[in-house]
Amino acid sequence: MRVAIFSTKAFERTFLDRANERHGHELRYLEPSLNASTAPLAGGCQAACLFANDNADAAALKGLADAGVLLIALRSAGFNHVDLEAAERLGLTVARVPAYSPYSVAEHAAGLILTLNRKLHRAYNRVREQNFSLDGLMGFDLKGKTVGLVGTGQIGEALARIMHGFGCELHATDPKPNPACEELGMSYMPLDELLETSDIVSLHCPLTPATHHLINDRSLEHARDGFMLINTSRGGVVDTGAVIRGLKSGKIGALGLDVYEEEGDLFFRDLSDHVIQDDVFMRLMTFPNVFVTAHQGFFTREAVTNIADTTMGNISAFQQGEIPEENIVSAEKFIADK
Ligand code: NAI
Repeated sequence: MRVAIFSTKAFERTFLDRANERHGHELRYLEPSLNASTAPLAGGCQAACLFANDNADAAALKGLADAGVLLIALRSAGFNHVDLEAAERLGLTVARVPAYSPYSVAEHAAGLILTLNRKLHRAYNRVREQNFSLDGLMGFDLKGKTVGLVGTGQIGEALARIMHGFGCELHATDPKPNPACEELGMSYMPLDELLETSDIVSLHCPLTPATHHLINDRSLEHARDGFMLINTSRGGVVDTGAVIRGLKSGKIGALGLDVYEEEGDLFFRDLSDHVIQDDVFMRLMTFPNVFVTAHQGFFTREAVTNIADTTMGNISAFQQGEIPEENIVSAEKFIADK
């Protein structure tokens, strides 16, 4: 099949080319991200392959359908960037990579926790400037602390195992409790109670209308003073304004983000020569207890290999009319959950 690959990143091409050796698709690498005006770049292609920050809204999907596209092959697990109802109306099949390495994201979340707790981001700069003072760098033992996980699917479970290894108590909220987590001694409870009882809260649920701004001014009132908040799920799960207010009041003692509500205008690009126009993001950058990475949770060799393999597999399976059910994303399957 001819495949238009939007938002191609330099790091991906080798992985996609290697995965495609077994499939023989004709890959059209496109640097622009998808939107209504770039959709026609897929002209003559039967599949459009999208990255997590492509905007597959109704207008962009219409453009793809008009260009002859039949399949949207997502190079991601998350699908909040696709208007599934519009895809259905347009007769487009949407496939994703439901699992590629939960360890990549869970280990990154653990890295954010360790960095913020022991202030490694500050220590790094200090030592390089020959400032060997320890003032302000004190952390706490993770052993015995309570970690609250919002969402205990694949990534939540992987992080639960890591934090269990540190000797943490595990609390969680999830409409579908995970028996493997319960075996680790995890207690399930409503979000407000999780916030009341957790020293560290880490978000691992998908972004849906139900989880949009789950962390907001009201829910933060329940949280422990000075707690640590980690978000490696999707930016929209957190109300950034509320979090800034929480940082200013001391309610939030440390914030680790791998995702940001408006990251589409920033992440995955070198903007070091530009004046950033997003004042909310720049305010976040001024806090010493905030550590942000640019959506790199998934970025391990193993995960990127699996993403490329499953994506090419989905495209071939579509051609043969047999995409595995768990890889298909449909309005029917997911809108009811929202
Ligand atoms: P998963 O589908 O295995 O688990 C998600 C869990 O969230 C499920 O158990 C579900 O029941 C739960 N959930 C749904 N609504 C909830 C709610 N209102 N409150 C609490 N829990 C809720 O998904 P997986 O693979 O663990 O990924 C989780 C999220 O991580 C993805 O949706 C994606 O947004 C994000 N992600 C981030 C990456 C990164 O690079 N930072 C890479 C991959 C995924």
